[in-house]
Amino acid sequence: MTRACIRQATLPRAIDEAAEIIRAGGLVAFPTETVYGLGADACNPLAVARIFEVKRRPSIDPLIVHVADSAQALHYGEFPAEGSSDLMSRFWPGPLTLVVPKKKVVPAIVTAGLNTVGIRVPAHPSALALIRATGRAIAAPSANLFGYVSPTRAQHVAEQLADQIDLILDGGPCSVGVESTVLSIAGPVPRILRSGGVTAEEIEIVIGPVEKVSAPGNHLESPGQLNRHYATRTPLQILREDDPLAAPAKGERVGLISLSNPKGRHDYSCLEVLSPSGDMREAAANLFNALRHLDSQGLDRLVAFPVPEIGLGVAIMDRLRRCAASG
Ligand code: TXA
Ligand code: MG
Repeated sequence: MTRACIRQATLPRAIDEAAEIIRAGGLVAFPTETVYGLGADACNPLAVARIFEVKRRPSIDPLIVHVADSAQALHYGEFPAEGSSDLMSRFWPGPLTLVVPKKKVVPAIVTAGLNTVGIRVPAHPSALALIRATGRAIAAPSANLFGYVSPTRAQHVAEQLADQIDLILDGGPCSVGVESTVLSIAGPVPRILRSGGVTAEEIEIVIGPVEKVSAPGNHLESPGQLNRHYATRTPLQILREDDPLAAPAKGERVGLISLSNPKGRHDYSCLEVLSPSGDMREAAANLFNALRHLDSQGLDRLVAFPVPEIGLGVAIMDRLRRCAASG
């Protein structure tokens, strides 16, 4: 296949072209508010199979089905009477994926054979325009090779996948920057399977207590909990600023990822400050671009200073821990 073109996602013609490709069984990378997705017609098993092939993703890892609104979501999942509509009206469009029992129309390949399906309404005008123009639900994982850092820029997608997909819609940098929170409401107690753009506290305000099972090392319920995930090629360690190992040894080239500027003088070869003012939203939006940038510098190792686990800090630390666990 020739290299996919990158088209401005705000152009109506680009949306029409992308919709046509998806209806014909092709693959389009598109922006969402969280990360870029690699989309195919959710009800075309052959097209969905291409997603797994292109990403080199194991077929045991289910995909999220993207729809334009709650009414469309009802075609694909059985939403429990209690809580669903409150969650939908509070968080959709937005970075919350609801895992519910699936309906028959969803092909088994999308859900990796599970009897549940993850569904969300993305809060990005181009993603919504694409779903509406396609007239179908779009199955989409993050548009990166399996296990690597998720893409938050069209350029990130192009670097890894341009040769293998049909079109990349460029909607600029993703505003949230970490993936959606995956919440299962398929069982008796709501469970967060992956932390993300919506915090547990925000969900609990709407439906009361939820279980959290997304800490690395816990048992595997959502394959996104795999420890080896979000990994840079350069090994990364999470170290406190006062840890002697955090400082570069003589001649060593170390990259630092930190919420704010390190105290005093430092010998890091490369520095990524996520949010000088300590704003977790800004930090989340910058995280994956920062990791990718550090990973492209040919450094010996990467160090991340821990961020406070409040608000989006939970999702940031989750991604950093998985990145560190893969080394
Ligand atoms: O923000 C996002 O969620 C982005 C954008 C593109 O929407 N998508 C994304 O997809 O991150 P992906 O495939 O990289 O991650 C989907 C996560 C995986 O951890 C998968 O295991 C989980 O959702 N998941 C999907 N369906 C599930 C199901 N039926 N049961 C349990 N986990 C499920
Ligand atoms: Mg992913």
